[in-house]
Amino acid sequence: MMSENIILVVDDDRDLLKGIKLGLEMEGYQVLTALDGQEALAVMEQIPPALILADVMMPGLDGYALFERIRQHPRWKAIPFIFITAKGTPEDIRFGRELGSDDYITKPFEIEDLVPIIRARLKRKEEMEEVWQGEINELKEHLTHTQRLAALGLLSASFAHEVGNILTSVMGYAEIMRKNLEKGQASGEDLSKLIFQARRAVSLARSTLDFSRRKKGDNRTALVTGALGRVLSLLEYRLHKSQIKLKKDFPSNLPLVQVDPNELEQVLLNLILNAVQAMPEGGELEIKARPAEEALRLEIRDTGVGIPAENLERIFDPFFTTRGDNGGTGLGLYICRYIVEKHGGQIEVESRLGEGSSFCLTLPLAHPGSERSAWRAGFEADDSLHCLG
Ligand SMILES: Nc1ncnc2c1ncn2[C@@H]1O[C@H](COP(=O)(O)OP(=O)(O)OP(=O)(O)O)[C@@H](O)[C@H]1O
Ligand SMILES: [Mg+2]
Repeated sequence: MMSENIILVVDDDRDLLKGIKLGLEMEGYQVLTALDGQEALAVMEQIPPALILADVMMPGLDGYALFERIRQHPRWKAIPFIFITAKGTPEDIRFGRELGSDDYITKPFEIEDLVPIIRARLKRKEEMEEVWQGEINELKEHLTHTQRLAALGLLSASFAHEVGNILTSVMGYAEIMRKNLEKGQASGEDLSKLIFQARRAVSLARSTLDFSRRKKGDNRTALVTGALGRVLSLLEYRLHKSQIKLKKDFPSNLPLVQVDPNELEQVLLNLILNAVQAMPEGGELEIKARPAEEALRLEIRDTGVGIPAENLERIFDPFFTTRGDNGGTGLGLYICRYIVEKHGGQIEVESRLGEGSSFCLTLPLAHPGSERSAWRAGFEADDSLHCLG
């Protein structure tokens, strides 16, 4: 914080320093003092002043060098700087002004002469700050607007992508139902799953609309196991068909996270589908959840084909896909990262070619600190997913 009435006076003449300090304090300013440039910099590190008065000739770091340092400093460069000096020849004054200082006062001078100059400089600084603040606000507004537009564009792509995923499973269930009907074994369960999928599409459409109407997402305090359970029950048949063994490793009392459950499902569905697609010959899918520092860590590991090192950097890029021939859009991971980061989390990948890949996401906790009580409450793998599905 820069205080508006703090003035730093730098001079190696102790008596003069004392005189100026007293005089300015009587005018209501707070005065900091330094005997040379180096000391002035040290003082400024502690308390940045609103204005600097500095002598030119001082031992060590002189006034000109101090001025250069301050003008190069990102936070200090706008602080008004006035030289006070005995070097009063026209050349000296010109040199000081050319350097870009705000004023040049020659000794001897009266405090009464100094005060109006200080006032004028501080007033000008205040006006400039108002102008800058206005410009900054304008820029910020413009940025948010641009970001929104970009996100909106991404969201419509994401919408099409997710609805595509949903329609694929709707068609899958419809197909199973048709076959079962032919065999006279129609089951209500498949129909429920189909309806569940159609509902997801409706809620996706709603969240896209909410976004474009500037509504906030449906953030709730939730257990990741709920979303995971729903996604896994959806993919149960697919896992079974692809001969993929599912291994779940969760503590029984996971801390809560703050998420939009639909979006979290979107992330999990994409990651698990990717894992399934990477294991065409079957394999093992491990889903592991752990409380981590102020976050929940969720790992989705497969024993699939793995990702070549040269692709690792690119898999989160929009439209990067090696599955273009099989209908891959390359948006899945891009959307995952967008959603996770929007929730304040992170997503990372590790992979070995021919051995498998592991995607790890962290989500901030709804109640920071609750990861410790989760540990206290004991840690045991359980099968709660089945009940949550
Ligand atoms: N678990 C995984 N194992 C191996 N490769 C993966 C895995 N997950 C992602 N990839 C690689 O990253 C690429 C990008 O994945 P992403 O989910 O973004 O798109 P996609 O799966 O190709 O397309 P879509 O998600 O539209 O079906 C994939 O094409 C694949 O090469
Ligand atoms: Mg994908």
